[in-house]
Amino acid sequence: MGECAAARENVNPILPTGVREIIFPGALHQPIEDIMAEFQKLVFSGVQPTGNLHLGNYLGAIRKFVALQKDNDCIYCVVDEHALTAQLVHEDLRGQTRAIAAAYIASGIDPKKHIVFNQSRVMQHAELTWIFNCVARMGWLNRMTQFKEKAGKDRENASVGLFTYPDLMAADILVYRATHVPVGDDQKQHLELTRDIAQKFNNDFSKRIAELGVGVEMAVGEEKVNGYFPLTEPLIEGEATRVMSLRDGSKKMSKSDPSDLSRINLTDDADAIARKIKKAKTDPEPLPSELTGLKDRPEAQNLVGIYAALADTTKEKVIAEFGSRQFSVFKPALADLAVEKLAPIAAEMRRLMADPAHIDAVLRDGGERAGMLAEATMKTVRRIVGLLDD
Ligand code: AMP
Ligand code: TRP
Repeated sequence: MGECAAARENVNPILPTGVREIIFPGALHQPIEDIMAEFQKLVFSGVQPTGNLHLGNYLGAIRKFVALQKDNDCIYCVVDEHALTAQLVHEDLRGQTRAIAAAYIASGIDPKKHIVFNQSRVMQHAELTWIFNCVARMGWLNRMTQFKEKAGKDRENASVGLFTYPDLMAADILVYRATHVPVGDDQKQHLELTRDIAQKFNNDFSKRIAELGVGVEMAVGEEKVNGYFPLTEPLIEGEATRVMSLRDGSKKMSKSDPSDLSRINLTDDADAIARKIKKAKTDPEPLPSELTGLKDRPEAQNLVGIYAALADTTKEKVIAEFGSRQFSVFKPALADLAVEKLAPIAAEMRRLMADPAHIDAVLRDGGERAGMLAEATMKTVRRIVGLLDD
């Protein structure tokens, strides 16, 4: 290691030296081979504690969280502060927060080896959001399609928090200088914004970053730059990055759809799952014999995608098995598969929810470990920006 790198490690470790082993017992220390070679690989993601978790959340996000923990150090957050952006007063926000944590654990995330916590325990997320509010431009946030959808026609009446929500999301990720973020397709634009914020911060403060010796060398296009924040990679892959409503193949499956028949909730029992799949909208044709035949058939495409993701296979293989068959054959097979995969998670969630003190202890422990990392970043950020502290 060169002198410069050694100095950097003391001044500004990506994760403090020695502390990483405490924070992630059996830390994996995955190097990143590509452009961010000097950043250690770190996975971060979050889910909002609003409404019931559904199959879209599971296939688009949580199932990937579980898979990634095998080879990476991971931080999984229940983003309770995000829940205030669209609706301020909640019936049972604490209970909903525990339910998402229970879903993480029930799905197979190991909160001892990795970190599971709720966002509001680590105040540095909100602190970094303020800095990012001053980095991000109005024009950037004005382009966010999720804000436009959620605010609807009455923009004047949307909360300021809903507008700056992507800054909080960027802070969630970058306060850990996380390098990889698994999410569903709907979060792509927010992750692009996260990269824009990191890049503008790195550029605007390049002199301070160099003076303090806290930069990490990265390639931006052809150019090599010394930046403090990584340009985070989204992980949006697989057969179910966008699970659609069971009632309308053009609409995303969502927690807020008024029709419960539109989604399969993680807590639905076997009867409810079978009933919803039986009632799922389809067209009158049998399944096509070739994958290309799914084009322009959004409902069929969606059900085949769900089957492929649940069975851990590809749409192509599902068509090889069920091609030319009627939905009256395919739907019961899909219902059986969904019950087989989801029922054990629902049962484990119920078991965990019966002991909220245990969930709270997990979140407290996760929050303490996350807080150490977040504070290490914020100490450096305060110095880069020029905020006076000790
Ligand atoms: P949210 O419920 O909005 O907090 O979303 C939590 C995670 O689930 C995010 O990574 C979303 O991208 C993902 N997600 C939400 N709805 C869907 C869907 N219909 N299909 C795939 N992924 C989804
Ligand atoms: N905005 C995400 C959603 O609605 C949730 C989220 C908040 C998130 N912070 C995050 C996801 C950081 C990934 C990384 O789905």
